Amino acid sequence: MTYENILTRVEGRAGIVTLNRPKALNALNRELMTELMDALAAFDGDPAVGCMVVTGSERAFAAGADIKEMATATPTTMMTNSFIDLWDRLRGVGKPIIAAVSGFALGGGCELAMACDMIVASETAQFGQPEINLGVIPGAGGTQRMTLAVGKAVAMEMVLNARYLSAAEALQHGLVNRVYPVEVYLEEAIRLANEIAGRAPVAVRLAKEAVNAVFEMPLRAGLDHERRLFYLLFGTADQKEGMEAFVNKRRPTWTGS
Ligand code: CAA
Repeated sequence: MTYENILTRVEGRAGIVTLNRPKALNALNRELMTELMDALAAFDGDPAVGCMVVTGSERAFAAGADIKEMATATPTTMMTNSFIDLWDRLRGVGKPIIAAVSGFALGGGCELAMACDMIVASETAQFGQPEINLGVIPGAGGTQRMTLAVGKAVAMEMVLNARYLSAAEALQHGLVNRVYPVEVYLEEAIRLANEIAGRAPVAVRLAKEAVNAVFEMPLRAGLDHERRLFYLLFGTADQKEGMEAFVNKRRPTWTGS
């Protein structure tokens, strides 16, 4: 598949998507988002890939939804073009996705990173929801996921007053998993992706689903859901292999079945 706005490659068992609109600081226009969703869906269906990394450039992960594309929009055109609905395809990706973020992760860029399962940041990363400066609010999850991640106090400052978080602050507030120097953040993200890709594939998929259920279900329903997924894994060959390998003090070999 050839893409105009992204680059794709596989390293080990990590499928990597690089956002590639450098002149617009990877602003997320419709074409780029469509290509990104297509690429992630293709990796999701590729047995050679166990985990994905979405990254940008050192200067910008992504500076937000494309303002030039939205500037003359009306509520009707936003709705009929399904401007944000396209992003919902991310929720259908079963394998884990790591955002490797350097430089600007603003507006939709920050929302895209938060919609991934983990964030590995470079020391130069800046996270912000500055939509208020444009006379709007975040529309792709910023008010919700940011508040769940960093709490109300910090989220209110970011959304109401366009406060940016540095990488160190983002780590302190639990928004990101790890921070590395800019020279190595991407290879560390790919290393982490390959580590996860080396684990029991069906369990990884259900583990992601179970953790994400926290954001969508009340506790009682989430606990029931987790229990069903746990029981379900006893139907996999990997559960038999993992437990037998433990008992016999050897390393397991996963088959993903
Ligand atoms: N959309 C479209 N183009 C963008 C863009 C965006 N979100 N962000 C940057 N660009 C473009 C600029 O227009 C500029 O293009 P030209 O050279 O053709 O003029 C190019 O990228 C470089 O940008 P700057 O010259 O502004 O670079 P800078 O280093 O001076 O500033 C910046 C960088 C602070 C990121 C600044 O570009 C900026 O503030 N960008 C907008 C950030 C923003 O408001 N994001 C939220 C968008 S709305 C949204 O995302 C809604 C949602 O929830 C889905």
